[in-house]
Amino acid sequence: MSQRPPILLDCDPGHDDAFAMLLAGATANLIAVTTVSGNVGLASTTRNANVVREVGALDVPIYAGAARPLAGEPLHAPDIHGDSGLDGPTLPTPSREIEATPAVEAILRYTREVDGLWLVPTGPLTNIAHALRVDPTLVDRIAGISLMGGSRTFGNTTPAAEFNILADPEAAHVVFSSGANIIMAGLDLTHQFRLGWDEIDAFRALNSKVGVFAADLLTFFMERYEARSGMPSAPMHDPCAVMAVTHPELFETERLNVSVERYGEHTRGMTLCDTRELHHRQEANATVLTRIDREAAFNHLLGALTSYTAEA
Ligand code: RIB
Ligand code: CA
Repeated sequence: MSQRPPILLDCDPGHDDAFAMLLAGATANLIAVTTVSGNVGLASTTRNANVVREVGALDVPIYAGAARPLAGEPLHAPDIHGDSGLDGPTLPTPSREIEATPAVEAILRYTREVDGLWLVPTGPLTNIAHALRVDPTLVDRIAGISLMGGSRTFGNTTPAAEFNILADPEAAHVVFSSGANIIMAGLDLTHQFRLGWDEIDAFRALNSKVGVFAADLLTFFMERYEARSGMPSAPMHDPCAVMAVTHPELFETERLNVSVERYGEHTRGMTLCDTRELHHRQEANATVLTRIDREAAFNHLLGALTSYTAEA
């Protein structure tokens, strides 16, 4: 078991973001949570992060971030996450307020105060880009950026683009050209970590508040994916970005140059990975996750949720 690395989770809950937050709360040193417009609007992603904090009884501050991308209009995904962004489970009323400090100010402060901090964005990269624009030197102070987003090949929101990148391509370009130590959990990877009825049953069998919450979340998430693709399972995207930090041994990786398409009529939001079989490809700027030990990863996720006490 690796040390509990310090993580700032920047997210857009979102069903899989909720799993990422509970996973980070149980297996990392979860320093803070910042929220961004993505799966649903900022008010909802922020409320949802607060709901997940309540379900897990997590002692972690939450800061609200960007309500819209660097350019263009906000993009949402109610078809996958429902109108609330966390449709499915009964959502408790949060008992704690979010912080008044804006997310970008909090991100910058934590990069100065916390040694070895990992930024783990699991939504559009707007907040991270804003922080990098204010202080590009933060890349020298953090351990890295482990993000869920992009793809070596196929998209999901368009044939070319994955949702988090398409929701703010300009922000993604800022991040991938920042010089930071980047880990990318793209769709090629996260679609290897699909969960279905067996995993729902395992979560429910935990007989805990978190277990029931996880089972109800995954049931809704899976049914939405089944409705759109016919497959009775759902890719558990966002926890992969957390596990890449806490348990890198679960993954195979390759170093690649990743660039973000911002202008293509059909390809805006695409992460173009230079996988050419050449001696001299473009200089790599990211560690791209290529394979996951699915069974070990699920057992790790289940073990993390098991660590929450029954009433938590
Ligand atoms: O494309 C999948 C990503 O978009 C995940 O982070 C999901 O939560 C949505 O934000
Ligand atoms: Ca997300």
